[in-house]
Amino acid sequence: MIKVINIEKSYGKNKIFSDFSLNIDEGEFVAIYGVSGCGKSTLLNCIGLLDQVDKGDIFIEGIKINNINSKEAVLNRRHKIGYMFQTYALIEEYSVFENLKLALEYKKNTKSEVHKKIDKVLEKLGILDKKYSIVYELSGGQQQKVSFARVLLQDPKIILADEPTGSLDKENKLNLLDLLKQENKKGKTIVVVSHDEEVKSYSSRVIKL
Ligand SMILES: Nc1ncnc2c1ncn2[C@@H]1O[C@H](COP(=O)(O)OP(=O)(O)O)[C@@H](O)[C@H]1O
Ligand SMILES: [Mg+2]
Repeated sequence: MIKVINIEKSYGKNKIFSDFSLNIDEGEFVAIYGVSGCGKSTLLNCIGLLDQVDKGDIFIEGIKINNINSKEAVLNRRHKIGYMFQTYALIEEYSVFENLKLALEYKKNTKSEVHKKIDKVLEKLGILDKKYSIVYELSGGQQQKVSFARVLLQDPKIILADEPTGSLDKENKLNLLDLLKQENKKGKTIVVVSHDEEVKSYSSRVIKL
């Protein structure tokens, strides 16, 4: 599903990866951990086609993505990959609803279908009452849930999540992990970056960077 082959990546003189490879099969739930600054977010960004490697290849479902601006990369990103950012990456001055509506932009839905779908995921995540709240008024944990709601609406084959439980308390963390596991059971491939022991215990494979 995801093949990372002999990649190299540097920021200036700071070499993050040299000759790094990784193979993730369809339906896996992989947890990646490692010390702060070791390149976890960089790796996820390269797999998620938000950043580019200097050398080596990345394949998503057999399609080689070396130029993140290529048509294939853009389509892969839109239809196959859902990304939960460490910093949520929501539009802060928009409401929750407006943010989530964007995730359904490429799907053909009527206005009432859009509301129905958004209500359903917000309900599932316990934040239906925040539907019309402006994002910057929400707590970190609530924003993290909106970011997860966006991925659920996008309904991609692959979910990449960068420290998705970082700002959640224990109960909400387990809740989110249960939901990720449910998505995994439905066949989605999940890659989570985290140093949380609980995340590791939910995964089917743990990789140390
Ligand atoms: N856009 C960037 N420009 C320059 N250096 C960067 C950039 N992104 C990350 N880095 C550096 O690359 C290293 C790995 O960063 P990152 O992937 O964010 O680590 P992690 O997520 O494991 O904490 C760090 O030393 C960081 O400072
Ligand atoms: Mg990081």
